[in-house]
Amino acid sequence: MSRKIKIDIDACKPRMVTAETIYSDYGAIIVWENTVLDALTINRLKIFGVDKIWVYEYGTMGAESEGPQSRSEEEIFTESYESDTEQFKEIIHDLSVGKTVSIEKTVQIADSIYAKKDQRRQIIECITQIRKVDEYTYYHSINVSMLAMLIGKWLRLRPEDTHLLVQAGLLHDIGKSRVPDEIINKPGKLNDEEATEMKKHSEYGYYLIQYMEGIDRRIQEAVLYHHEREDGSGYPMGLKGDQIPLFAKILAVADTFDAMTADRSYKTKDTPFHVFQLMQNDCFGYLDTIVLNTFLSNISHYYIGNKVRLNDGRIAEVIYINPHQYGKPVIKIGDEYVDLTITKGVSIEELF
Ligand SMILES: [Fe+2]
Ligand SMILES: [Fe+2]
Repeated sequence: MSRKIKIDIDACKPRMVTAETIYSDYGAIIVWENTVLDALTINRLKIFGVDKIWVYEYGTMGAESEGPQSRSEEEIFTESYESDTEQFKEIIHDLSVGKTVSIEKTVQIADSIYAKKDQRRQIIECITQIRKVDEYTYYHSINVSMLAMLIGKWLRLRPEDTHLLVQAGLLHDIGKSRVPDEIINKPGKLNDEEATEMKKHSEYGYYLIQYMEGIDRRIQEAVLYHHEREDGSGYPMGLKGDQIPLFAKILAVADTFDAMTADRSYKTKDTPFHVFQLMQNDCFGYLDTIVLNTFLSNISHYYIGNKVRLNDGRIAEVIYINPHQYGKPVIKIGDEYVDLTITKGVSIEELF
């Protein structure tokens, strides 16, 4: 290694090595000292508005190897997604052994998720992939935080608020660490007593993060109220409409989508189109209309061009998303265009 130099972020190249730890404006670590930079990390620094960084003058690592640079964007994304999940597991583990958890660790994971905010296609693909059932809560928390981030962006919230939403998404079900495992992992339907205990997770979560130093009040409220519903049918308080904070409304939409899309042990995996349909038909009145519409209209467009398998076995391509029925797009089968809102008996069974 040689001497430290300060360079412009635009002059920064993959495989350079950082000479100092780099912090975000609010003091969270973005990149540690002695980190070998890659394209994703450099991009992340740009997103955080970092202009200049300290690197070692001749300190590029493994310049002759094809290693990191030969990996695709998808591989880098998946690796980072898995690493976020692993780090999140540590938070849950610490909680389950009675340790108090600091907000810094959550902010670090949120930083890593936030750095992926422009990789929307990868986020959406990742969420609709099959995940391990026994690790459901971890992946679910990461997914909800990524979905909440997308909604925050689509609603044009300020970047700092969207970052808080990412943290709220991570922490929203943290109270499940206080619910007995037999209830969490029960494959069948919960009985009344078990369901009552399960419903306490939002309050448990609120208590767990209540004294986290430096945590934003809006995160705490979002955790407590993420199961409140517009008509007052939710829990724990039965709040209605405007009484429910915006962050909680956003988490409710993200949470519902991920739970419906997930491959749980007690139901088969739904296609996103079926989930759009269910959310559009069944969730109006329960979920905030603006948040839900913003979410459905934006996310559904990512499936244009996707290949799907129909209930009769034929393969088709998604051509147009109908804003009145997000779950019933116009598809192309061979040379024929079929509008699923009109044609009866044809449905999408599987997404490729
Ligand atoms: Fe929840
Ligand atoms: Fe959840």
